[in-house]
Amino acid sequence: MGADKSICDLIKNYKPGYSLEQNFYKNPELYERELEKIFFQNWFLAGHTSQIQNAGDYFLLDFANESIIITRNKEGKVKAHLNVCRHRGSRICLEKNGNAKSFTCPYHAWSYDLDGNLIAARIMADDFEKSENGLHKVHVELVGGLIFISLAEKPLSLNAMKDDLKDVFKQFGFDNMKLAMQKSYPVKSNWKLAVENYQECYHCAPSHKDFAKIHAMAQSPEKFNRQKEALRENPPSIVRTKASSFYFDLAIPGEEGYQYDRNPLLPGKLSGSKDGKPVAPLLGDLKKYDGAASEFLVGPVTFFLIYDDHMIGYRFLPTTIDDCICDLFWFVRADAVEGKDYNQGDLSWLWHVTILDDEEIIVNNQKGVNSKYYKPGRLSEMEHFPQHFLNWYLQAIS
Ligand code: FES
Ligand SMILES: [Fe+2]
Repeated sequence: MGADKSICDLIKNYKPGYSLEQNFYKNPELYERELEKIFFQNWFLAGHTSQIQNAGDYFLLDFANESIIITRNKEGKVKAHLNVCRHRGSRICLEKNGNAKSFTCPYHAWSYDLDGNLIAARIMADDFEKSENGLHKVHVELVGGLIFISLAEKPLSLNAMKDDLKDVFKQFGFDNMKLAMQKSYPVKSNWKLAVENYQECYHCAPSHKDFAKIHAMAQSPEKFNRQKEALRENPPSIVRTKASSFYFDLAIPGEEGYQYDRNPLLPGKLSGSKDGKPVAPLLGDLKKYDGAASEFLVGPVTFFLIYDDHMIGYRFLPTTIDDCICDLFWFVRADAVEGKDYNQGDLSWLWHVTILDDEEIIVNNQKGVNSKYYKPGRLSEMEHFPQHFLNWYLQAIS
């Protein structure tokens, strides 16, 4: 009761236009509530179908106390189940990825098929029903080859997003990509500081020297908006420039939040690389570079940046109240060949150095927020995205 009241007070006392109070990052009951109301409700990216091409291929997705097995069943469908044995709860799958005909628990050897059905349980009483002891199912939806999961009993709909952005998915060939590379970056901060940081480019000019050489967004809003207008008025290619702004507190009721927008790179830059030159074959239906990149957001912790020749996925998940993991995914055309059409070093350079910058500023942010002297500070007009995130967050945990 006491904890509930202190969380209610915290929410009630939030001053719009300011950052959050320290306690939002420190209160263990609030963290439990975030898991319940956000991470066990909303959709987030699990991975890509190219990671599980054959029946029985699987990989694990771990966050907080949870572990989820994502696999392809015999019929070729993508399935997700909690990695929690229905006997006495052991982790079943211990390898991060692999191929299995079935999943056998290492403790007492209960065995589950690729659809999560319990198929063998040794020496159990006659009245034991295998059919009632299958693995807990996790909802799966595909967007092209992207695998999204939701742990909600009744998940939000993704239909509005799928319908609205059909043209975008076609232009960029979402059905025809592969995961070229994935890297995990553990960050010693509460997950919200990492997500808040991703939402604003107020920090880009001072903190991201390399990013600022490629992306127009790091400039002043006036300069950036002029270039963005020019991109809208003279679309040099087929890529959609019309924005869809249904993110965070702007989400359609019953639908998962999403956003699409297209933003200019600096003049002469074609892709998100060290020198702004292409690093992989053009995606989808694209025939030429247009000097821009698209933002695509789904739910509260999954973000994409789509260049003409590759796509970056960003996902933030909590490990504990004080730690999170930022996973970065690099996608290229499905038929691109490593070493010939792209190489991992050039492909990942810009966002590898950018996330290392981010890690440093987020950790410093957390250290300052931990101080007894920290007080919520005023947000800039360049921080309107974090404000939408905070508005949504406060509703979500209320
Ligand atoms: S806990 Fe899995 S078989 Fe006993
Ligand atoms: Fe950043």
